[in-house]
Amino acid sequence: MADPLDQPADGLAALERVAAEAEAYLDSLANGPVRLARSDEAAAAFDGPLPDEGLGTLGALDRLIEGGLDAHVRSSGPRFFHWVMGGATPAALGADWLTSLLDQNAGGWDASPLAARLELLSLRWLRELFGLPSDWDGVLVTGGQMANFSGLAAARQWWGERHGVDVSADGLADLPQAPVLTSGFVHVTALKALAMLGLGRGRLKICADGGGAMDLAALAHELQALAGAPSIVIGNAGEVNTGLFDPLEEIADLCDEFGAWLHIDGAFGLFARVSPRTAGLAAGVERAHSVIADGHKWLNVPFDCGFAFVRDRELLGRTFAAGAAYLPEASEDHPIFAFRAPELSRRARSLAVWATLAAYGRSGYRAIVERCLDNAARLAAQVESAEDFELLAPVPLNVVCFRYRPAGATEPELDDLNQRIGEAVLTDGRIYAGTTCWKGKVAFRPAFVNWRTTSNDVDLILETLRDLGARLRS
Ligand SMILES: Cc1ncc(COP(=O)(O)O)c(C=O)c1O
Repeated sequence: MADPLDQPADGLAALERVAAEAEAYLDSLANGPVRLARSDEAAAAFDGPLPDEGLGTLGALDRLIEGGLDAHVRSSGPRFFHWVMGGATPAALGADWLTSLLDQNAGGWDASPLAARLELLSLRWLRELFGLPSDWDGVLVTGGQMANFSGLAAARQWWGERHGVDVSADGLADLPQAPVLTSGFVHVTALKALAMLGLGRGRLKICADGGGAMDLAALAHELQALAGAPSIVIGNAGEVNTGLFDPLEEIADLCDEFGAWLHIDGAFGLFARVSPRTAGLAAGVERAHSVIADGHKWLNVPFDCGFAFVRDRELLGRTFAAGAAYLPEASEDHPIFAFRAPELSRRARSLAVWATLAAYGRSGYRAIVERCLDNAARLAAQVESAEDFELLAPVPLNVVCFRYRPAGATEPELDDLNQRIGEAVLTDGRIYAGTTCWKGKVAFRPAFVNWRTTSNDVDLILETLRDLGARLRS
């Protein structure tokens, strides 16, 4: 086979091959099946040994497109309600392609002034969008997981310094166990972040009321018992099964009173601040010490993207301190993101973030958020008025937690029935929604963050679940 390095025109041919698919694919998002029943087999068909002779650029892309379209999930389409996943806005999608074309390393200004400048600007625009103080620091990372890691790493650094220890330099060996407190709404990624940080996911103290939200009296009691020792509190803006919020203002009051660090996980809930209809839910976030959200959720940029904001402008720099003779020096107006983030080399996520904010602005994002709020309210109303569905939690934001409960089904049958509908819906293709367990009941929890979802898409949810339920019962 010809040396691939002798084929410079292949780059253009590769892009043209993908672009040729794009028009039909984007059209198919509206009506095509979310997932094909044969997707697993199509994915398995890729298996095989490393080829001695390659397929060539177009051969490989043809194979990837042919098998990939059968094996993939149309998760950026309007009828995907599983996890909490957005779909790329047109501007973000175009910018993401450009990101791969330009192949920038967003580690430092010398590697890419474009990526570094747009990261600074994007973070500033995001702070403006969310009404966060303009003098906070921030970084772009891969998603909510690494954003929680970054915010909690800054918290750990602060906590160590309160004990006179620079954790970044000297580790945890000379320190006591860090007190970390949260509610029943804590997301698994905050737990994993604590695990990665050596703070221990099992050492977390949960102060939850009967609904799972922060029990303020219990939190006050725990903080009091620490007798002035520094601690970290995790507040949750948007619980993943229900969209419920912790009482953030009151938590901020207690953190102020007892000198605790307040970290807020707002992976999707931070976007409540974009609409006056829901901003009150996330009031108090501006009083936190670190706050995170996702880009690939309600911002609707392609995977992967998240961001962490930290009040203390110097702290990320001390937390993720790095440097080497071959790397540049940071300066006040030219920060080196590689020294303020977990990664050294970094994808230039700022291009897509900048492009989507530049394209649609504050009003466009308010419209996206409010459309999703309307979609959630529409589904909640349908569930409430249906005799064969049951709403399991209030719907303050964009997640609707409910179950199928047809007449005649006994309580023990319901979990099994909803579980089986949940399995069937994943290969049915009309909509895509997963199950969870809420207050001991198997439930659906469709989350609305995709800018493409219309009321017609919403109307398919109960129709599809009812249809699958009836089939499974008959
Ligand atoms: C509240 C919350 N935090 C964190 C995450 C993790 O985000 P990611 O999947 O981007 O790591 C999620 C994801 O759904 C979430 O809902």
